[in-house]
Amino acid sequence: NYYAILMAGGVGSRFWPASKASNPKQFIDILGVGETLFQTTFKRLSKLIPVENIYVLTNKKYVDIIKEQVPQIKEEQIVPEPEMRNTAPSILLGALKIYKRNPKALTVVAPSDHWIKEEDEFIDSIKEAFTNIEDSDKLVTLGIEPTFPNTGYGYIKYNKEDKESLKKVDVFTEKPNKKKAEKFIEAGNYVWNAGIFIWSAKFIIENFKQYLPDTFAVLNKGEDKWNTREEKEFLEENYSKTSNISIDYGIMEKSDSVYVIPVSFDWSDLGTWSSVKTELPSDEDDNTAINCRLVSEDSENNIVSTTNKKIVVLKGLSDYIIVEDKDVLMIVPKSEEQEIKQIREKVMKDF
Ligand code: GDD
Ligand code: MG
Repeated sequence: NYYAILMAGGVGSRFWPASKASNPKQFIDILGVGETLFQTTFKRLSKLIPVENIYVLTNKKYVDIIKEQVPQIKEEQIVPEPEMRNTAPSILLGALKIYKRNPKALTVVAPSDHWIKEEDEFIDSIKEAFTNIEDSDKLVTLGIEPTFPNTGYGYIKYNKEDKESLKKVDVFTEKPNKKKAEKFIEAGNYVWNAGIFIWSAKFIIENFKQYLPDTFAVLNKGEDKWNTREEKEFLEENYSKTSNISIDYGIMEKSDSVYVIPVSFDWSDLGTWSSVKTELPSDEDDNTAINCRLVSEDSENNIVSTTNKKIVVLKGLSDYIIVEDKDVLMIVPKSEEQEIKQIREKVMKDF
């Protein structure tokens, strides 16, 4: 009864220009390990979930990339969204299709752009979560011990005295501002939301009915179309009517059935250039070279990425992100990397 929903429809905008709408970060080999993040994630999940039970939710423009990168996935397991509506509608769509196939399905929902070092511990945590939802209605997420007030994550407050490994969540706060995030870190009884969710298809559908009733109503009309030839046409007509909202704001912040399993494996949402840097080797001056040869003097703590193994020479430059792509060369101070998302939007508008 184990199924997976693999989320692979984001554009990775803070990773521009290496990640673009036509080929987002999950489909590139950001870490230079010989496979893309998507391929790594698929392999990891298939250690526990039968390959034919893994559904990939993605934008329609990425279907061919997926087929090429993981040929084991059958066409009917790739679910193309006609437009980007964020994660909530996408997760509901996956759940409805899986529920129709197997009303007893237990699912893990996983992003495709994470780096996880200890795969066995990851698998054990998912197994443990599955055991906990076998016959009780719970929305389970994995929690990561936070290390700094990152404003890009969800924060989960739980009772530290709770001795069970699965803990009831008091409050779920998606992407708090800096001030709040600092408070949460100080308080000590918060973990980051890893964005990896475990629940039964049936129960997450019930939560949509309660907390995002409009989106539920739109998609539930397609009940007799799921897994048939008419599905595509139905989605083309209706998908844009769903709410454009993430699962975190739409369900996790609202539901009172949220539980967390704090985990200790090394995890990173490879969301920004700095987060990638921490996973890669650097030279004695803390410079990290991706796909290039760096020759540097009086230069520290830079990230340099090129597409063609160029020699890059730096003299007297520190704390910068330098990314060279086919059409773009971007040079931005590390301290401003959260701005890359806006810079990208501006460039797209102007050129
Ligand atoms: N199919 C599909 N459709 N996938 C999408 C869409 C969409 O419209 N939008 C995003 N995704 C995919 C992304 O590719 C990624 O794999 C995953 O869904 C999560 O989306 P992100 O955009 O990366 O979310 P986030 O990182 O800002 O926040 C989430 O993850 C954090 C941990 O990494 C939240 O769950 C946070 O609470 C959490 O801390
Ligand atoms: Mg992310």
